[in-house]
Formats: sequence, structure tokens, C-alpha cells
Amino acid sequence: MTVLSCPFCSAELTRTGNSLICTGERKHCFDIAKSGYVTLTRASGTSGDDRDMVRARTAFLDKGYYRPFADAVAESLGGAKTVIDAGCGEGYYSNIIASGGHDVYGFDLSKYACDKAAKRVKADGNNAFFGVSSIYELPVSDNSADAIVSLFAPIAEREFARVLKDGGLLIVGAAGREHLYELKKAIYAEAYENEGRRDLPSGFEEIARKNVTYKFDCAGEDLKSLFMMTPYAFKTSREDAAKLDTLSHLEITADFDIFVYRKY
Ligand SMILES: C[S@@+](CC[C@H](N)C(=O)[O-])C[C@H]1O[C@@H](n2cnc3c(N)ncnc32)[C@H](O)[C@@H]1O
Ligand SMILES: [Zn+2]
Repeated sequence: MTVLSCPFCSAELTRTGNSLICTGERKHCFDIAKSGYVTLTRASGTSGDDRDMVRARTAFLDKGYYRPFADAVAESLGGAKTVIDAGCGEGYYSNIIASGGHDVYGFDLSKYACDKAAKRVKADGNNAFFGVSSIYELPVSDNSADAIVSLFAPIAEREFARVLKDGGLLIVGAAGREHLYELKKAIYAEAYENEGRRDLPSGFEEIARKNVTYKFDCAGEDLKSLFMMTPYAFKTSREDAAKLDTLSHLEITADFDIFVYRKY
């Protein structure tokens, strides 16, 4: 059984030349883009992160500031073979997971993100599949994945339960209470800690929980890229955002929570 399935008729997808073609009666056909990603959605047009947000995320993540978190996520996967990165963004984490020998399938609504992700893994000599798709309607067969990672992305618990094998893992990475506190303090008159609470996805049991906390020093363009990839970029006035320009550097707390759930 192949992991990928047709978004129209759920039949298996197989590669023929530069396309993925379904084995159903209608033989739905999906072109593989030059960089290697495939648009696998019934929706016309896509959304998700735009080009600038993807660029900012890449510029920041490529500097390695979040590498300890990436390594902790990868370690949580154990021997999982088929891993879905749901809301994979520009593939920084997918690439690190793929380098560990897992078969990675990354999905994101943003075609810019999937394009960058496909280029990234190729450049690093790794192998992973990237598809433009909503994580609420994954083009993936039932019970075909050993693990799903969901990092700073929405959690589609019913869809995740459908595509995971019984006993499969769901690994959720999210901001811990103090994540980027100093960045918020530099911008807002009143800065609050994040809410640490997270509801148990239905159909899953929690089997482990980890926290990764450390400080990193950030300056110049990296600081701006970091700000651009946070949800604060949308909700901050131009005046408040300009406060970052006056800082030579900032020591910032990275605080990540990692939840490991198992499908039962
Ligand atoms: C905050 S970013 C995190 C990206 C990546 N996991 C990371 O940590 O670098 C959230 C991502 O989820 C994607 N996204 C949001 N809603 C989505 C949905 N319904 N289906 C697929 N992707 C979605 C966005 O396009 C964006 O790339
Ligand atoms: Zn089909």
C-alpha cells in the first residue's frame, strides 16, 4: 500500500514520469513541480504562509537557533518509519527528521513553503515528499503513518487519528510559558507569559512530555526574521514593531513543550 492517496477519490497514487496518477477509474493526475513538491488538494488556489513569512522563517531557522528543539522532536520519534509533518512550513524540521532515516511526508497549505521545503531537502541530499494540502484533508491512506509531528501548527485530531496506524505517535511541539518572553517585553508595554495548557486530542493518550528551555542571543536581521515568523507580526502596531530597530541585540528565552501522544 502506498502512503499517498488521491484527494478526489482516495485511490492510491503512483508516479508516472513527472506526475502522480491515481489508480482510480478517473485516473486523476497531479504534476510534480520542478522543485519536487506536488499540489494535492481539491481546493483551487492555496493560502497559508506567504512568501515573506516563509523567507523570514527560513532565514531565522537556518541559523540554528532552534536546533536543540528540532533534535528533541526527532529523538521522540524513536523507530517510527513513516512520519508526516503536518503544517511542515518550509521544511526545516522535516529535513532534520529525514536526515535521521525516517520516510517523511510534509504537508502545508502554502505552496511557497512546500517549494522551499522540497528545495531544502534536495540541497541537503535528503529525501522527503512535500504536498500542498490542508492537514484537515490529508492525501494519505487510512492507518498508514507511524508518527505525525505537528510543530507550531493546527492540530487536526480526527484526521490525524485516521491516517495513523494503531499505536502510532502524535508529537506536538508548541511554545512553552516563557517562549520569547524578552521579545514580547521589548515590544509591548505589558508582556504576558504564554498559556502552557494543552487539551488531550481525542483518541490519543499522552505517553511523554518534555520541555526544552535555553537562552539565545539574537541581533539585527535575525531579530526581525524571528519577529516576522511569530504570531505577533500580525498584531503589533508599526510603532511597537519599530522598537526592535533600536536594539543592538537581545538575549531571548526559547521554551518549547513537546507532547508525545499515542493513538489507541
Ligand atoms: C507557524 S507555521 C509552522 C511551520 C513549521 N511547522 C515550523 O515550525 O517551522 C504554521 C504552518 O502551518 C500552515 N498551516 C496553517 N493552517 C494549515 C492547514 N489547515 N493545513 C495545512 N497547513 C496549514 C501554515 O501555512 C504554516 O506554514
Ligand atoms: Zn483519483
